[in-house]
Amino acid sequence: MSAENWSPSSWRSKPIEQSPVYPDAAALAEVERQLAGFPPLVFAGEARKLKRMLGKVANGEAFLLQGGDCAESFGEHSADNIRDFFRVFLQMAVVETFAAALPVVKVGRVAGQFAKPRSAPMEDVGGVSLPSYRGDIVNDIAFNEAVRVPDPHRQLMAYRQSAATLNLIRAFATGGYANLENAHQWMLGFVKDSPQSARYQALADEISATLGFMRAIGLDPESHQELRQTDFYTSHEALLLGYEEALTRVDSTTGDFYSTSGHMIWIGDRTRQEDHAHVEYMRGVKNPIGLKCGPSLTPDGLLRLIDVLNPENEPGRLTLICRFGADKVEAGLPQLIRAVQAEGRSVVWSCDPMHGNTVKAAGGYKTRPFERIMSEIRSFFAVHQSEGTYPGGVHLEMTGKNVTECTGGARAISEADLRDRYHTYCDPRLNAEQAIEVAFLIAELLKARRDQRGLAAHPAAAE
Ligand code: TRP
Ligand code: MN
Repeated sequence: MSAENWSPSSWRSKPIEQSPVYPDAAALAEVERQLAGFPPLVFAGEARKLKRMLGKVANGEAFLLQGGDCAESFGEHSADNIRDFFRVFLQMAVVETFAAALPVVKVGRVAGQFAKPRSAPMEDVGGVSLPSYRGDIVNDIAFNEAVRVPDPHRQLMAYRQSAATLNLIRAFATGGYANLENAHQWMLGFVKDSPQSARYQALADEISATLGFMRAIGLDPESHQELRQTDFYTSHEALLLGYEEALTRVDSTTGDFYSTSGHMIWIGDRTRQEDHAHVEYMRGVKNPIGLKCGPSLTPDGLLRLIDVLNPENEPGRLTLICRFGADKVEAGLPQLIRAVQAEGRSVVWSCDPMHGNTVKAAGGYKTRPFERIMSEIRSFFAVHQSEGTYPGGVHLEMTGKNVTECTGGARAISEADLRDRYHTYCDPRLNAEQAIEVAFLIAELLKARRDQRGLAAHPAAAE
């Protein structure tokens, strides 16, 4: 049954934030017409499976790992980039699965993460004012009048790039690359001489030993596909609603509407007004959805949004992606948790330690101090510990490339180093080495939590 008074286009009669102005309305309509005839990128059954897995996360039985570029770009679309992202992601997932003995739900910010909200509609440089860059699906990042005009044909490019990216990822996830027996090979060359490498190799050795034992007792990857394959899902911010509407389809087995541009889609912190267009669109599709929660969200505001977005209180439907900033989590998060608990709402609590910790470095680069990212994750776990709730996941901006965008980490990237390899199209990302360090931190926090619970459940075992 679809939501009341909802259709894939009902958002069009609501006020909208962050919407590009296309000068050629006829060209835009023609592109949307074409997109509406294209094949879905993902399938309703897959989105349902992800929702089931997120339901387990909501119940504390699995952990959500979500991450990828801040913004995908046309210029950096290559097999190597996709592979290197995927292998770091697999490393992070295996670190967390093995150390915490919990299933990890793997969701990339990938194959559709193109549209960006901006703080100002115009960008001024040296007395010239041009429309802000809104992601490659809308316009070009070059500061040049002709290419900053929103061009609807870029949506066709984004669709085709998403299809190609997803095709390669599906092959990696199921075709042998993700086989646990390859855990040693996922290490990237440039990370090999770092402290994270030694730590990871030691863990991969343990996995090899475990797999050797399992093989000896008859459980091998040839006969057990869960050892040689993984489920990997895609996600992006559903910002460009014309594009999302065109890829919204009715699932023939249930009659429900699904967004088929990605398995999971989320609402940004700037577009979550409950009576506006983005919330209107999201309430009617059955995918698992995310909601970014920043310091300006009040407990009442959150409860009203939950009423609209998950009226049936379905576990796994709604992930609250909290992005407070390392110094604001302890003040802001408990009140949201208490409001949700008091109303008995089922949600996944996920931590975005990136967006509340962005600073301007000398030289004008946007950066994020690694220590603050780590600190927000620690505080997020600590708050859930004292509230008695479950810290269910993380949401990261990361890349498999050896970039210098976030300062700090084991290699102590300094502000002066940023200009070295600063490639992001939007926000600064963790590089491969920093991403693995984050994964180890999460694994430790999950393990500590489990050990403590174990003792609480079996007091006799306590020393
Ligand atoms: N299928 C399991 C899972 O996805 C185990 C697994 C296979 C795995 N390959 C993996 C886990 C790669 C992490 C990374 O969890
Ligand atoms: Mn970002």
